[in-house]
Amino acid sequence: MTLCVGDSASQPLIAKVCGRAIVDSIRICLYNHEVEHLLGALRAIAEPTRLRSLHVLSQCELTVGELCRVLGQSQPRVSRHLKVLTEAGLLDRQSQGTSVFYRPARDGVGRQLLDAVLDLVIEGEQPTPAMRRDLDRLASVRADRDAAAAAYFESIAADWDAVRALHISDEAVEAALLTQIGNDHVGTLLDIGTGTGRVLELLADRIDFGIGVDLSTQMLNVARSRLDDFAHCTVRRGDVYNLDVEAGSVDVAVLHHVLHFLEDPAAAVAEAAHTLAPTGRLLVVDFAPHGHEQMRREFGHRWLGFESADIRTWCEGAGLELAAPVILAPASSATRNSLTTVLWSARPRRSRRSPESGSHRQALVTDRPVSDQPVSDHPSLEPAS
Ligand SMILES: C[S@@+](CC[C@H](N)C(=O)[O-])C[C@H]1O[C@@H](n2cnc3c(N)ncnc32)[C@H](O)[C@@H]1O
Repeated sequence: MTLCVGDSASQPLIAKVCGRAIVDSIRICLYNHEVEHLLGALRAIAEPTRLRSLHVLSQCELTVGELCRVLGQSQPRVSRHLKVLTEAGLLDRQSQGTSVFYRPARDGVGRQLLDAVLDLVIEGEQPTPAMRRDLDRLASVRADRDAAAAAYFESIAADWDAVRALHISDEAVEAALLTQIGNDHVGTLLDIGTGTGRVLELLADRIDFGIGVDLSTQMLNVARSRLDDFAHCTVRRGDVYNLDVEAGSVDVAVLHHVLHFLEDPAAAVAEAAHTLAPTGRLLVVDFAPHGHEQMRREFGHRWLGFESADIRTWCEGAGLELAAPVILAPASSATRNSLTTVLWSARPRRSRRSPESGSHRQALVTDRPVSDQPVSDHPSLEPAS
């Protein structure tokens, strides 16, 4: 059977075979005279391993090596498929030092088509047995990454403040944080991935109540002794992806040098956004893109910095509006791999705010003793003592 894409008489038939979303994409493409591009993308998708690759990469960005492990196929073969998918505009290729990560295209015809096809695969519950096996193997790749990161933080806790100072100027970053807070009244501050609790200590005299959350027992031990004198600050064990904090209760949430260690920074931003009061804000401090590949090996970095465009996409996806970033030049005092740090600030979109909400709201964070807190099922970590 031959279908002529440009023939309006064919469209109901295509809709029946492929679904309405694809036909809408086709129509958009026709309007944009991108038929060739569309046909190339359709051809690229129409191969079982490539469809499986798209399905897996829609869940998690991966390197070629990791995707080989998930698909159980050889590197040359997987590389060839990835090249086809990237050239067809379905995937973006992002270099991070010597590693290259593949992820779904950010926009364009390829992205529209990909969304439509994945809707059919995922929401239509069409995954094949091979696709289901892929997801199991993907979970084990992700678990290995998480275990390596957690082990690193357990081992580095006592020295973390000194390690951080190798790369950045704490003074410049901390001054920028204080400027952001200004004279605003902060009821509740949530420091996500608090580590040794430095951000809570820094902002303690500007807040009514501070809570730090971290997965690492060792980090939390250091934070507890640092915060001994601050009765209104507390730390507890918890996961950035599943914060046990009441939605809409936080005035300022901070992710200070946490995102570049995380497997899924977008999910962490979304979880943080969920905790924010309508007038609250999220402060993200992290590195601008850099090429110091060795920081993966030596310091457990997952991402070599972030583009503001990525932070914007994640914030917008979480219902936040991003302000202009504050760029903090590398510190002359930093002794190794001096890096540019960026402070991003985002607030809930206006439509989420209500007139009666404001900083007078009571702190609503669940304030249970540490021992009562839910313990993640992460295998490499002990419950907090
Ligand atoms: C680089 S340290 C930053 C600590 C602190 N914010 C600072 O700037 O000093 C990153 C912290 O994130 C924590 N972390 C990593 N993954 C986490 C997760 N899934 N949930 C909670 N904390 C996590 C680590 O244990 C570590 O303490």
